[in-house]
Amino acid sequence: MKSLGSSCSSRAAAETPEASRERRAGRGALWSAWPRCAPRDLAFCMAALLLFCLGSLFIQLNGGPPKVLLELRNYLGESTYLDDHGPPAPKVLPFPSQVIYNRVGKCGSRTVVLLLRILAERHQFNLVSSDIHNKTRLTKHEQVELMRNISTIPQPFLYTRHVHFLNFTRFRIEQPVYINIIRDPINRFLSNYFFRRFGDWRGEQNHLIRTPRMKDDERYLDINVCILENYPECSNPRLFYIVPYFCGQHPQCREPGVWALERAKQNVLENFLLVGILEELEDVLLLLERLLPHYFSDVLTIYKSPAFWKVGNLTGTVKKSMPTLEALQVLYRRMKYEYEFYNFVRDQFHLVKKKIGLKSLLPISSHEPSFLRELTLHTPDPLEEEEEEVEEVEDDAKNWLVQP
Ligand SMILES: *[C@@H]1O[C@H](CO)[C@@H](O)[C@H](O)[C@H]1NC(C)=O
Ligand SMILES: *[C@@H]1O[C@H](CO)[C@@H](O)[C@H](O)[C@H]1NC(C)=O
Ligand SMILES: *[C@@H]1O[C@H](CO)[C@@H](O)[C@H](O)[C@H]1NC(C)=O
Ligand SMILES: *[C@@H]1O[C@H](CO)[C@@H](O)[C@H](O)[C@H]1NC(C)=O
Repeated sequence: MKSLGSSCSSRAAAETPEASRERRAGRGALWSAWPRCAPRDLAFCMAALLLFCLGSLFIQLNGGPPKVLLELRNYLGESTYLDDHGPPAPKVLPFPSQVIYNRVGKCGSRTVVLLLRILAERHQFNLVSSDIHNKTRLTKHEQVELMRNISTIPQPFLYTRHVHFLNFTRFRIEQPVYINIIRDPINRFLSNYFFRRFGDWRGEQNHLIRTPRMKDDERYLDINVCILENYPECSNPRLFYIVPYFCGQHPQCREPGVWALERAKQNVLENFLLVGILEELEDVLLLLERLLPHYFSDVLTIYKSPAFWKVGNLTGTVKKSMPTLEALQVLYRRMKYEYEFYNFVRDQFHLVKKKIGLKSLLPISSHEPSFLRELTLHTPDPLEEEEEEVEEVEDDAKNWLVQP
């Protein structure tokens, strides 16, 4: 504004008094009320202002990144404009007061939810944890109802549920910030495969009661047979599991392909404050503590305390056996898009770690076939297991409204 003003007055000063008198006479009294300023400049100012207003309106109405995310990027020094021209970015974190954790199944979310219960009490935020574990996609009507419900929770709140990304902006509701955690896709798949059959620490007997409808043929199905003989459970589209959580509710989000993959990546950049990877859970917690201190302060201390582990019964899925290398390779090829997404998220995660000043160990490159060999040797299964999650086996019924 300052520079505009000075350009106006210097130009006015350069004009002859006569010319400016002429102009005032010619254009009527309106101009005399304004600082002496060439109409062309004024028109330019007004046009720029209008463009700016329309632009920000457009961004707000059209699903641009929520303001708080932009501020956070700023904080992390990602805004090139401010880096180059403006005052230094503020070193005060904005405080998002609406957070959604649309947790992905078998990616450590039971652990995180247990932590959140403790944190919610300590930091006085509202934790709403949905007990619906088997419905990740919703009709348009259900989406709107759920988003309205979520936005009425007293702030600050953290809402969590196994649900594919909900686009609040699309329905003109203020978009909360999202967080999430994913893990190596094959490990996630294996964890779910055995959990569905044999449960967790509660043991097989318990699981026989909980999933009584599962026939023995299915429960004791050899995982190699499932993969190599193309059982639906071990084929696409059911192997396309992680990407839809980030792509959204659009039916095409559940079709394994580039469209869903690209949309999911874009969405991670635009709407997710942080997507961590379970393999580096402690760093995920550390970053959450830094980025969302009002929710996650002390989380690492709690996580590391023996009492927490005792209360949480944090043990892995039982009866795990590793598929053969051949089966793993087949699985890996079928999960091409899942791996592309996982690698993208892992790289982003490492970038954020670097900005905060945390080192990353050199990642095992998941592109190499040797990675699969290593997988057969040791499957890191970082604790966790879900409560009751049973993945849906629904087909695309007519009730999934096609979005415009
Ligand atoms: C989800 O689980 C509940 C019981 O926990 C069941 O009544 C419901 O039919 C299930 N829904 C789907 C879509 O599987
Ligand atoms: C919304 O909240 C109401 C009242 O708390 C509840 O009855 C309803 O089931 C909720 N709907 C959804 C989609 O969560
Ligand atoms: C959300 O909705 C807005 C407005 O319809 C749209 O521009 C944006 O692409 C959508 N984002 C996602 C991830 O679906
Ligand atoms: C942990 O396991 C014990 C029995 O082994 C059980 O009584 C307790 O409820 C479990 N705790 C949780 C949080 O599930």
